[in-house]
Amino acid sequence: MKVSFPPRLEFHFPCPIVLVTCGDMGRKNIIAVGAISHACVDPPMLGVAIGHSRHSYKLMEASDGFVVNVPRRNQVKVVDYCGKVSGENRDKFAACKLTATKSQKISAPQILEFPINIECATRKRVNLGSHDFFFGEIVAVHVDESVLDGEGRIDKAKLDPMAAFRESYFSLGDAVCSFGSAGAP
Ligand SMILES: Cc1cc2nc3c(=O)[nH]c(=O)nc-3n(C[C@H](O)[C@H](O)[C@H](O)COP(=O)(O)O)c2cc1C
Repeated sequence: MKVSFPPRLEFHFPCPIVLVTCGDMGRKNIIAVGAISHACVDPPMLGVAIGHSRHSYKLMEASDGFVVNVPRRNQVKVVDYCGKVSGENRDKFAACKLTATKSQKISAPQILEFPINIECATRKRVNLGSHDFFFGEIVAVHVDESVLDGEGRIDKAKLDPMAAFRESYFSLGDAVCSFGSAGAP
């Protein structure tokens, strides 16, 4: 037996949780985003859904790109704050004691204290209703050395990332197996 749930967008399955920075060094803002996806391999693209009611939406519309900032688990307070407070009349960088640094390829700033910053140049925008989906080409990626393993790859334990599921933030458990090595079903 399967139970019918209402056809609403909810965190039915684990989703990434990131902070997107937008605007420019003058009018900058931070928004928590769970609606983020890999979108294309060549060119490399990510997509984020931003609600029309968000202050970030106006900034995203008016600028050339956005930055995806990947948090560590111990940055959950900042993530949660940026997911419930609007930057309309508040500087979230100042409120969270975060440093805005200039991006290399786009106007939107990035968060120095976050270990991974992915600069995306907006290439396409699709109006879906309450939200627009912004597709951004990845034009630069910055990774803090402190989250790398001996081979220069991102180390899960060092990054200690989070996912969103139902109404909570989760840390990741053990690896199940590597891609392509699960064996026959
Ligand atoms: C876990 C979580 C995920 C969220 N995901 C999104 C999202 O994908 N898109 C969106 O527009 N808002 C999302 N929000 C809501 C915004 O982060 C929130 O409304 C924020 O205060 C908007 O800030 P702004 O008005 O400064 O842009 C999320 C909030 C939380 C807590």
